[in-house]
Order: sequence, then C-alpha cells, then structure tokens
Amino acid sequence: MDEREKKYLLKKEVNTFGNDLGVINLEDVKEGSVIESHNGHRFYLLEPTLYDIVKKMKRSVTTLLPKDIGIILTYCGIEDGETVVEAGTGSGALTIYLANAVGKNGKVITYEKRPEFAKLARKNLESVGLIKKGQKIIGLDEEDECIENKENEENRENNKENIEKNLKEEENGLYNVIQKIGDITEGVEEKNIDLIVLDMPDPWNVVEHAKNSLNRAKGRIAIYVPYMEQAKKSVEALKKHGFLEVQTVESLVRNIEITEKGVRPSTRMIGHTGYIICARVRPE
Ligand SMILES: C[S@@+](CC[C@H](N)C(=O)[O-])C[C@H]1O[C@@H](n2cnc3c(N)ncnc32)[C@H](O)[C@@H]1O
Repeated sequence: MDEREKKYLLKKEVNTFGNDLGVINLEDVKEGSVIESHNGHRFYLLEPTLYDIVKKMKRSVTTLLPKDIGIILTYCGIEDGETVVEAGTGSGALTIYLANAVGKNGKVITYEKRPEFAKLARKNLESVGLIKKGQKIIGLDEEDECIENKENEENRENNKENIEKNLKEEENGLYNVIQKIGDITEGVEEKNIDLIVLDMPDPWNVVEHAKNSLNRAKGRIAIYVPYMEQAKKSVEALKKHGFLEVQTVESLVRNIEITEKGVRPSTRMIGHTGYIICARVRPE
C-alpha cells in the first residue's frame, strides 16, 4: 500500500516495485514493514487479506459481493468440517469463502458447466491454496487436460526453483476444494451434504436433487438470484419439496462518510445485486 492508501497485489518473489511515487526494493524485507521509495515516499508492505486477493483476481463472470457472501455464510451457519456442494463455480469467489469457512476438515465440491470458466477458477483457487497446482477438474475433457498438464510440466521442468517454491506453498494451503464439470440440474452425485449453495440462473431445477443429497438432520440450502421472478420460482420449488424455514432476504450496504464537516451516508451505493433464499431440509 502506498502512502495514499492505494493497494497493489504483488507476488512474493517480486524484488522491486515502482509507481509514480518512486521505486522500492523488496529484497530481504518482510510484511509488516515500512519502506521508503528512492525519492522518499512511504510504502507499507502488508500481507494481503482474502478480500484483497478476491478483488484483484481474474474473473469470467460477475462474482458475489461480500455483503451477499456474508449473509450466506452466517444465515446458513456454516461451520468448520462441513461438506458443501456449490454451483456454478464461476470465477470461484464464493468458493474461496466457503472453503475457508469449512477449513481443513471440511470440503467444497463445486460444479461448473463451462470448462473455460472452471479452468480460470482453477487458477484463482490455486493462487489461494485451495487446490494443488495442476489438480484435475473432474469431467474436464481429457484432450484439454493433456495440453494443460504438458504446459505445466514444461514450466516446472524449466525451473527447479519453481518446484521447491510450489512444495513450500503446498504446506500452507487448505486444499479442500474439488472442481467438477457438469450440469447440476442433471443431478447431485454427492450424498450426506451439509450445505448446498446455488448461484446459477435456474436453481429451482436443482431443489429436488438437493433434497435427496442433503443430510436429513442438518442439511441447508442457500440460493442467490438477481431477479424477483427467479426468487419466487425458487421459493415455490423449496416449499413444494417440503423445505423448512424458507427465508428470502436482500442486503443493502451503505458506506458512512465521517469527516470534520459531518457524518452522513455516502451519496453513492450499490442499489441491487440479488436475493438470497435460505432454507433447511425436512427430516423424513
Ligand atoms: C453468476 S456465476 C457464479 C459466480 C460465482 N458465485 C462467483 O462468486 O464467482 C454463475 C455460474 O453458474 C454456471 N452455471 C449455470 N448453470 C449451471 C448448471 N446447471 N450447472 C453448473 N453450472 C452452471 C455458469 O456457467 C456460471 O459460471
């Protein structure tokens, strides 16, 4: 972060960095220190938070915003050690928060029907230690996988240091995400699931599969949709299949500006993202 609080996400191996406030030398300095640029400006070397990383990562589709992710995590009461099924993966932003919430003892199985999106998400998930480098995406075309693996191997062989670095990094990750290519409306293969989270256009087509895959004692579902019509269809499907505690919410977040002049809400805000529906499966 520079002294104007502008942030840059740098790889650990980067040795120098420069912007209009000058050049800094990052060799032998640790996160948590203050560095001066060659022309006397201050830079703060910080460990990025997950949110910093998610904001900067490459995306194929619009990702869920923290306000909506927060509602899903808290209203569903997601816990360490739980097993979550998610669809669609998209860019993997929600996957990252789900995987961190269930931790090393839990897992997230994430379905995506478009291989190109799943491959981009794989890079994002790799970068935060949720899948190992080159981890297979279940159901990805073999030909596609071969080309990618060959490229990975060539990169590794070309650079011994990379192998050592990768091994070191692999000690620190959670590695609790499994990626799958598939249309989840055709079925959920996993059983005894604690939570199913759907961010896709027609979640009502998954509700019956969800009912059959959720743990009867504990299973919950969360659905995120941008339109009211989608929310209505989803709620109708949940009720038809006997889900309990069906609740629909929308979350609005207003920033508050606190200055010497006074305190007031920001005049700009995000007006709408989507509706979140949470429910739990009925024991039978
Ligand atoms: C809005 S995006 C999800 C964004 C994601 N939650 C994130 O935070 O990055 C919706 C994704 O669902 C995928 N999708 C749509 N229908 C699907 C289905 N039936 N099965 C699996 N994935 C599906 C789309 O290809 C798309 O990538």
